[in-house]
Parts: sequence; structure tokens; C-alpha cells
Amino acid sequence: MELKHLIIGLAIAFLSYIFVESRRPKAGVQEPPALRTRIPFIGHIIGIAIHGLRYFGKACEGSDEPIVTIDFLVSKVYLVNKSSAVAQVQRNAKVITFDPFLDSAAERMVNVSKRGLKLLTGKENGGGDLNRKIVKAMHPALLGPGLDVANRNMVNNLSKSVDELASFSGKSFDLYAWAKHAITIASTDAVWGPKNPIKDPENEAAFWDFDSHLRLLVFNIFPSIIARKAYLGREKVVSAFVRYYNEGGQHEASELAQARWRVQHEGGAATEDIARMETATVLGVVSNTTPSSFWMLYDVYSRPALLSQLRDEVREHALKKNESGEMTIDLAAMRDNCPNLLATFQEVLRTHSNSAPTRFVTDDVVLNEKFLLKKGRVLLMPGMNMNYEPSIWGDDSQKFDPTRFKKETLKQRPTSFMSFGASPSLCPGRHFASGEILGMAAMMILRYDITPASGKWTMPKFWKGAIAASMPFPAEPFNVTITPRVEFANTTWSYTSTDGKGKFPLITG
Ligand code: HEM
Repeated sequence: MELKHLIIGLAIAFLSYIFVESRRPKAGVQEPPALRTRIPFIGHIIGIAIHGLRYFGKACEGSDEPIVTIDFLVSKVYLVNKSSAVAQVQRNAKVITFDPFLDSAAERMVNVSKRGLKLLTGKENGGGDLNRKIVKAMHPALLGPGLDVANRNMVNNLSKSVDELASFSGKSFDLYAWAKHAITIASTDAVWGPKNPIKDPENEAAFWDFDSHLRLLVFNIFPSIIARKAYLGREKVVSAFVRYYNEGGQHEASELAQARWRVQHEGGAATEDIARMETATVLGVVSNTTPSSFWMLYDVYSRPALLSQLRDEVREHALKKNESGEMTIDLAAMRDNCPNLLATFQEVLRTHSNSAPTRFVTDDVVLNEKFLLKKGRVLLMPGMNMNYEPSIWGDDSQKFDPTRFKKETLKQRPTSFMSFGASPSLCPGRHFASGEILGMAAMMILRYDITPASGKWTMPKFWKGAIAASMPFPAEPFNVTITPRVEFANTTWSYTSTDGKGKFPLITG
């Protein structure tokens, strides 16, 4: 054997040793500690059945570990419990990633065909990478100039809905049902344009059947029998989107809808599969904004001092009266000059969110030289844990404090606010949603007084069958009566939005 071959052989052996050693978990490195339950084996399964998504937060109560494991018998799931671990997860975003869930949602939620799934799957798995391309294409449409156009269209419908409320005066009606309809129409019209299929009341109802009963549908086991309501609702919306594309509705729609269509159509996807993906997108566009708008109204109207403060702020800084006497809410002025309104909104999101940003571990990885996360496991970051962490939000973190997000003392850490998720998969729709929810609240508080039919602002029970939304919604009607305020009797109203000023200075994870 020549000496140089021996040296090369030894060098290869040495490098292999270093490589293997560097990947071998060090002594003391283990999977995160298991969370025990009082009922052995099935305790966590029972917990989920009782509490729904909130269980992931509840399960960690009392634990000081930054990350824990829960054992579901057939698989283990990691739960992040402290913001320090969120930062670790973000640092390893290449192997702890959201992408596989996009593929899973396409299959389980909206039943995209096998061929369509292949196109959506990532390149590394031999697919066409369409899912990632679609999300990428949505960013300029929601974070760039497309946001201005979407906002202009959205506010037109919103003001019509707030006007219509006057006709409910003196009658009892379900505030959540009203907000749901108002937001659904304003949002979907802004996105899908004049031929928006969700504007048809039958399709709107079908969509909400799909959204509200999604929990059973995603098991994908005889869905037409086991999850009939969600299944029928979904299929009706899919058919409506197929007709929409065949009639060219997408060409008159927002940049968001056009970009999504373009990427999929040019990538070779069939129209029916695009319609299925669009049905899932309706979930993203309305399912969180709707309950968030309800909670914003609930939290403000149930606190008279806050209501009065916000009324003064909006009247003074975001309301204009034009020559013909019309009252106009200026969304840009609201964003720039109403810090109390914006802080209240973020506190609403902090305190109500069930968000549990989900990631998939694609390779063994060690966090903080201590916790081994194994390939193939799911990892969740329940907002309830980080959104209430006392070291970040203070010892009163359990309390609703509308000034919290204004406090200069707030120890902001980018990893501690989970309501819009965590980068790099942060919600791109957050500015559009903020304009809509704050615009609705600003006009409502100036124009109307609201009283709960029961006489008390009592927190409604939550509906557990919906899993797309990270904000819970009421399981029963929340009846109120409404009175137009004398201050603005006999006035007409509108909104104005300013191009380039649609992005809100929100705290994000
Ligand atoms: C108050 C309303 C909203 C809330 C609370 C909310 C919350 C969230 C959360 C928690 C995530 C998961 C992020 C993660 O895994 O780290 C998310 C993702 C997403 N949201 Fe929203 N969302 C809202 C409104 C919207 C709207 C209006 C749109 C579209 C117009 C939208 C589009 C999306 C998209 C496309 C993603 C996936 C991002 C990615 O994969 O990179 N959201 N949202």
C-alpha cells in the first residue's frame, strides 16, 4: 500500500469519526421531559377531547421546562413552553419546519388529487414545490402594494355592513353572527373580486359548515359519512370555485387571488385542484379575522372606561368630516395616531389566542445542547404558554391590560407573541386583518352603543369543532341590542385608506 493511500484512508476515517461524533447526542442529551398525566396512557387524549386546542397550553401549566414531550401512545409530540425554546426552534428552521403541514392540509382538509399533491410537495421529495411557491407569491400581495388595493375593496363592504346595523336598532340579534357575515363578505370580496363565490349566501353557509366541523374531516376516514356537514360544505365551495375559474373570475380579482391562480395554473395544476386549494385559503382569509373582530368588540364594549377612551381617541385622531357632512374613518390616521386602539387590539389577540404554530422535525436535532428532537415528530408552540410568560409580560400577565402593548417597560422579545405565529412562517395576512378589525371597531364604537341581551357581558362558551382558527369563537349565540348614538344621528359614513400605509406596527413572534 502506498503511503499516500494510507494517509487518505486515515484522513477519511478521522473525518467520518468527527462527523459521527458531532451528530451523536452528548451525555445528558435526551428528548424533552415527558409530561405526566393523572390518568395513565390516555390522559392527554382525554385532555384534547375535553379542551380542544387549549389543552396544549393547559397541559404545560406548572412546568418550568422550556420544552416538554407528550406521549399520545402512537406518537410523541413536543410542546414548547418558554420563549427561549421558540428562539431555538427558529434557529433550526431548516429542520423544524412548517412545510409538510401545507401538504398535509391539501390532502386532509381539501382532498387535492394525487397528481395535485405531487405538484404541491417540496422538490426534496420529488414534487413540484408549488405549495412553497404559492405562499411566496402571497407575500407581495399581502405585504406590498397589493395590500392597498385589497384594503380599498375591503372597506367598501365593511361600511355597508356597519350601516346596516342601524336597522337592527332596538331588536335583539347575535353579535357574533353579524360580525361573521360582515367580515366574511368584506374579506372574500376584497380577495376574489366581483365574481366572489362566497357572496352567494348558500356558499357562505356551506363554507362555515366546512370551517366549523373541520375537526372530524381531517381524519379523512369515510369523510362523507363521519364528517358529513364539513364534507358537503367543502364540496359545495369547491364546485363554486370551479365555476368561478371557468368564468374567469380570477382575472378581475385581487393580486392575491391572481398570484395564487397564476402559480398553480402555470405549474400544471388542474382547475379542480386549484379550486380545492382556494377553499382552504378561505379558511386563512376569514376564520381568524372573524372571531378576532368579535373579541375586539366584546373586550371594548364590556369595559366602559376603555370604550370611552377609545371613542375619544378615534374621534380626535382618525375621524374627518368632509364638505358634504360625511364622516370618514381614515385607516392610516387610525394606524399612526390611535396607539390605545392598536394596543387594545394586540391585548385582545394575546389573551384569546389558542394559536399553536405547528412544525415538523425533518431530521434529528439537538436544542441548546440539551434536548434531542427526533426526526418525524411534530412540535407545537402553544400561544397560551408564551403569550402569558411572566418574565416577558410581567407578573400580571393573566390580566387583560389594554395598555400592555404601549408600555415602554414591556420586555419585548420577538419570540414571545405567538398570536400571528412565529417567523419564518409568520402570518402574512396580519396587516390586512388588522385594518379590517380595527376599522370595524373604530366605526362601531363611534356610531353605536351595545348592550348584551342578558344584561351582563358574560364570556360565552367556545366552539371546539373548528380547528383552522387559532382564535376561538362562541358556541352559542351572543345576543345584544344596539342603539345608534345621538352624537352622530343622521350622518353618513365611509372609510378612506392611504396607499403605502396599510402595514401596522404589530409585535410578532
Ligand atoms: C386576526 C387574524 C389572523 C390571525 C390571528 C392569524 C394567525 C395566523 C397564525 C397563528 C398562523 C400560523 C403561523 C405559524 O405557523 O408560525 C398564520 C399563518 C398564515 N396566515 Fe394568518 N391569521 C390571521 C389573518 C389572516 C389573513 C386575513 C390571511 C390572508 C388574507 C392570512 C393568511 C395566512 C397564511 C397564508 C399563513 C401561512 C404562512 C406561511 O405558511 O408562511 N391570515 N396566521
